[in-house]
Amino acid sequence: MCGIVGYVGKKSTAEILLNGLSKLEYRGYDSAGIALNLPSGMKVFKANGKLHNLKNVMTENIAAGSGIGHIRWATHGGASEVNAHPHSCNCGSLVLVHNGIIENFQELKDELTGCGCVFKSQTDTEVIAHLVAREFEKVKDLKTAVINSIKCLKGAFALCVMHNDVQDTIVVAKRNAPLVLGVGNGENYIASDIPAIIEYTKSAIYLDDNQIGVVSADEIKIYDASGNLLTSKVENLPFEPQALSKMGYKHYMLKEIHEQSDVIRNILAASPELQLKKFDRIQIIACGTSLHAALVGKYVIEDLAGIPVDVEASSEFIYRSTIINENTLVIGISQSGETADTITAIKQVKEKGAKVLIVTNRPDSTMARLADNLFPIEAGIEVSVAATKSYMAQLIAMYLLGILLAKDAEKAAVIKAELSQLPAKVEMILNNSTAIAEIARKYSNFKNFIFIARGINYPSALEGALKLKEISYINATGYSAGELKHGPIAMLDESMPVLAFLSEGIVYDKVLSNCQEAKARQAKLIAVTNVENSTHQGLFDDIIQIPHVSDMLSPTLNAVVLQLLAYYIAEFLGKDVDQPRNLAKSVTVE
Ligand code: G6P
Repeated sequence: MCGIVGYVGKKSTAEILLNGLSKLEYRGYDSAGIALNLPSGMKVFKANGKLHNLKNVMTENIAAGSGIGHIRWATHGGASEVNAHPHSCNCGSLVLVHNGIIENFQELKDELTGCGCVFKSQTDTEVIAHLVAREFEKVKDLKTAVINSIKCLKGAFALCVMHNDVQDTIVVAKRNAPLVLGVGNGENYIASDIPAIIEYTKSAIYLDDNQIGVVSADEIKIYDASGNLLTSKVENLPFEPQALSKMGYKHYMLKEIHEQSDVIRNILAASPELQLKKFDRIQIIACGTSLHAALVGKYVIEDLAGIPVDVEASSEFIYRSTIINENTLVIGISQSGETADTITAIKQVKEKGAKVLIVTNRPDSTMARLADNLFPIEAGIEVSVAATKSYMAQLIAMYLLGILLAKDAEKAAVIKAELSQLPAKVEMILNNSTAIAEIARKYSNFKNFIFIARGINYPSALEGALKLKEISYINATGYSAGELKHGPIAMLDESMPVLAFLSEGIVYDKVLSNCQEAKARQAKLIAVTNVENSTHQGLFDDIIQIPHVSDMLSPTLNAVVLQLLAYYIAEFLGKDVDQPRNLAKSVTVE
């Protein structure tokens, strides 16, 4: 959700900023901008739309000792060049980029307007530029100006600020939004996330909330909110730069779908030792695709461990009275570990004394730092905005957790043994992807889609619909198959494809009956099934036959199919698969 890059050093600043922004495009792509601090004045470039538009306007090669860049996911004010960051003060000598939301921006804007500040954009960010510039006029020190200004801000921010009077220095600050400082040799970097800097350095300092950093080419100094100098901890960055290559696949999403068998092997090999405190119930909180993994987790843990599990979207959880105490284990699931709604929920439950287990793909994230126990899912960096391999890894984490908490050791051992067979079965589906692509082509022109399933695959129906919506913009809904007859069935006719996850298990016959009901209303029917049954032939228009697994593990193989279907439909429709409109991978605002 907005990406920030900064650089101070002797290399080509503009090139490093553009390259860094290209690695942060998953955080937003509504507009992009760069500011270079030159002795002759600030040079600012902005363009609406994707990063390549900015590259097109940056034709000259300008040498600068420092610069900041931004890629935007619009919150306040539409996607336009004028709302693109960097934003500046009246005279243009101070520029800044911002990720987050300033909740009291209107109040500040009114006050600053009264003092003669002229606002050019509709953003909340511009108030910070005017605020810091006004402070700088008073104190003539950029660090102190930033410290004084952020005291007035309510909300979330990660900021990079430059002033033309202070060459080769960037002042940074953060609260409830991520910011990492890359440590180089005679040069230093700033970024919202490490993909932007990993090819230049493997050492970094993570800024904590309400800390301020002063970054020059030779040093990084960190201060607390009162201006006291702190000792900073330099950490090793976890990723390899080659993780950011498409490796010959047309899209990151397709590459990441194909990585899933290895992802399962990795997480099984790594399965962490978790020392969990005593608890009598579990509350899982998550958003988006992670929420669907959480729903599968409820079925798994309740079945294997007999412990009650509640699941709720973080954004709903945080604004009601929740019954959480020291006997509740709260599990936060998040690919990025930076989702603002989930972070807020975690902070709330910690205040109520609950222990928090974080299941994340980013052991370096804010959520991981808040965790009492950490379960890293080992999926490797996921670039495509639509989550695929991280979902698979989250599902496996749910099974491993269920096994860890299991009452019946024999039952747990059966699931464990079956898990080790999964990678080969995932590969069988991937090897059959041409057949799935054919079915995708056949259905790519339908305007609506319904996914149905029951039991542990109800979340598969939700995820199938979400994936299709996200990347193809087709109106898709996931229903529990038993609910179809209570309303949604009114929508069925030959223009409405219904895809059923029909896995062997307790609900197989019931889902089959629900499919018959849909067929009787002329809906086009697709089955994703691991059952060979001759009645399928007459009933379904298309059948995607997948390898056999137990009911409990079936969401994993169904996930591969729903991902491939969504991918190929979006690809046939010519959509921007890796960067779907209006979305961002890391949603750092509530
Ligand atoms: C965004 C992404 C989704 C993701 C959700 C939760 O909406 O586009 O793919 O599932 O955030 O993200 P998290 O990082 O917490 O799993």
